[in-house]
Amino acid sequence: MAQARRPFFCGNWKLNGSIAESVALATDVRNGVATVRDADVAVAPSFTALHAVAKRLEDGPVSVAAQDCFWEEKGAFTGEVSPGQLADAGCKSVILGHSERRQLLGELDAAVNLKARAALKAGLTPIICVGETLAERDAGETLGRILAQLDAALADMSEAELGRIVIAYEPVWAIGTGRNATPAQAQEVHRFIRTRVASRSAAVAAKVRILYGGSVKPDNIRALMAEEDVDGGLVGGASLSADSFVRIVKEGASV
Ligand code: PGA
Repeated sequence: MAQARRPFFCGNWKLNGSIAESVALATDVRNGVATVRDADVAVAPSFTALHAVAKRLEDGPVSVAAQDCFWEEKGAFTGEVSPGQLADAGCKSVILGHSERRQLLGELDAAVNLKARAALKAGLTPIICVGETLAERDAGETLGRILAQLDAALADMSEAELGRIVIAYEPVWAIGTGRNATPAQAQEVHRFIRTRVASRSAAVAAKVRILYGGSVKPDNIRALMAEEDVDGGLVGGASLSADSFVRIVKEGASV
């Protein structure tokens, strides 16, 4: 990565961990990255652990992300959590449009857009996920799928709002499979995403951080980060061990 953009690594803990386990893991991550000066680091626990983890991490440098939010601030929406509530719990960012939500829970592009705009209003950084399935890649539809997801997610955002988002490219076939995209495959899509953002604002495109996600490990992050448009990682399985996540941050930040 050209040092134009500060690397960002976010651990996505998915549906894992009690409050005590989450606080312990967060503490180990914080201690492990204490000497890392040249990257931003976040962890995304389950809703139930957000506040306790945020309290533990309040002195920095690791910030807290949620894994989803709703698009309304309050009202009769049983089971939902608003961006303002997440900010109140200590979150700085929120992962949106993860492929597991799209595939298993029927989340639509339009919902990702509503959530992202609501998150921005509440002062959160949306980490917007896009990615193609294996069938779409095999059918030559990768870039078309990314384009559709991206355009829908970023619709009706002002240039100032666009300037506050993070995008994550996560090929669905690489998530939790142990099969990461090659650096060249990642770079092709990351460049495509940046070019698309540039059609809205060249200034935002130059600084928007585009993370790669999908079987990121300590031994593949360097090659991915060496690509010009890869600015960090959204890490699932390997972020559940403080040791491997800290190694990913250190390896990735030093490229
Ligand atoms: P993985 O998950 O690192 O376990 O492949 C990445 C993600 O889903 O964000």
